[in-house]
Amino acid sequence: MSDQEGPLTITGKDSIWACTCMQSAHWPFCDASHHTFGGGEPVEIQLDPQKTYQLCQCYKTKNRPFCDGSHNK
Ligand code: FES
Repeated sequence: MSDQEGPLTITGKDSIWACTCMQSAHWPFCDASHHTFGGGEPVEIQLDPQKTYQLCQCYKTKNRPFCDGSHNK
């Protein structure tokens, strides 16, 4: 799990596999930890490679895997 507070900026991606088990060491990305710990399966999120996205790293967002500004609250 990340201890970073602010969002991770990504661009140029057409999709990501988002962790839903909350055990990934590279959250919000799936790192296959769900095979070891259980608790969920990753979800593929389609993205526009022409756009820039902010991904949550503080676990507080209500719009996983995207940052909703909750790290500032
Ligand atoms: S590591 Fe969490 S869903 Fe894969």
